[in-house]
Amino acid sequence: MDKSISASKPLSGEIVVPGDKSISHRSVMIGAIAVGTSEITGFLHAADPLSTISCFHSLGIEHRFENERLFIFGKGLHGLQHASTALDAGNSGTTIRLMSGILVGQKFATTITGDEYLVKRPMKRIIDPLSTMGARITATESKTAPLTILPAERLNAIDYELPIASAQVKSAVLFAGLYAEGTTRVIEREPSRDHTERMLGLTSQTVDGKTIVTVDGGRKISAGVFAVPGDPSSAAFFIVAGLIVPGSEILIKNVGMNPTRVGFISILKQMGAFISIEHERIVGGEPLADIVVRSSNLHTDLVLDGAIIPNIIDEIPILSIAAAFAEGSFQVCDAQDLRNKETDRIEAVCDNLRKMGLTVDGAKDGFAFHSKNNLLQGEFDSYDDHRIAMAFGIASLGLKGTSTIKNAECVSISYPSFWETIQALQR
Ligand code: S3P
Repeated sequence: MDKSISASKPLSGEIVVPGDKSISHRSVMIGAIAVGTSEITGFLHAADPLSTISCFHSLGIEHRFENERLFIFGKGLHGLQHASTALDAGNSGTTIRLMSGILVGQKFATTITGDEYLVKRPMKRIIDPLSTMGARITATESKTAPLTILPAERLNAIDYELPIASAQVKSAVLFAGLYAEGTTRVIEREPSRDHTERMLGLTSQTVDGKTIVTVDGGRKISAGVFAVPGDPSSAAFFIVAGLIVPGSEILIKNVGMNPTRVGFISILKQMGAFISIEHERIVGGEPLADIVVRSSNLHTDLVLDGAIIPNIIDEIPILSIAAAFAEGSFQVCDAQDLRNKETDRIEAVCDNLRKMGLTVDGAKDGFAFHSKNNLLQGEFDSYDDHRIAMAFGIASLGLKGTSTIKNAECVSISYPSFWETIQALQR
């Protein structure tokens, strides 16, 4: 489906963004290996978390949707059953990488794979530490899925310093640590999202600027009640929409404000954005707030690099849209892992920004451009990547004339009602 989006009149109204994708995945995973029934509210009903549910269904875990609630009938660390066919993680990197950490602890073999995009994404990053723990994993020659995870005699606890800042790798090792003999420690130089450690109630401490998360093998997990906050990564699209469409004011309710996720808000504020954080509260161990955004004259002389990158990794496409509508220069460095997302997001962002008439310098680990007036409407390629489709969908609201987003249905990965939400704010 191609989506036509025209220059927008002011956006106004109140929205609630869908549940956090990272937390939704983890609530199903933790619910499945907990003893008893877990109850989840605010679960993200979108393709990626549904892939996680379907993988666990193949492993014998029952679930039930009841009104706004999801129940997961957990069977404990060792209650999963052999799946008769390969698990399909769809488009979801979080599903395949985190679940691998659980599958290495099972007494049966499992094959897990995914769609044409997922099978191109690197899995060496999890195969290496899990193999060091004693896991037996086979992959393609280029260390991509399908992964076949064979039963291991035993798993050993390890101390693992992450070579790349990745919450998915950290979480895979922490899940495997539940099945290992001894205490596993994961050490991060640059903090990545910490939902797994919060939800499992793990200890983390900071030593010499590094975060050390500890998990004891054999630790029993109790079923819980998980309240999933609105996804800040989804809210980011409407925050930028409110900023760049003149005359707009939007209230976004119930947004997760975990400090490992909201670096993009400080960056937008540095650009001169009017963003007001209201009714801050803690629900289910995660900070939440309502956000008011008003259209603002943005300016930028920013270089985004170093330790902030893991915090804003999913927001770089939409931050680059804010920068395109700002006055000044914008540069992203140290973000080479953007090339390993649902698509090569450095290439996708550069290509589409050029269609807007910007001169963009692409680099291995980022890109740079200087803003200019009279941006052009365009025919933007989503690259079948939900965040690219949404970022350039929002850009189209601020451009003159009518733009097109090709293969716009991919928003169903994380935000199925995205296009309808734009319309609701235009009414
Ligand atoms: C995620 C971690 C990030 C992020 C992804 C979700 C998670 O990936 O890009 O959308 O839920 O742990 P990396 O760990 O590969 O950086």
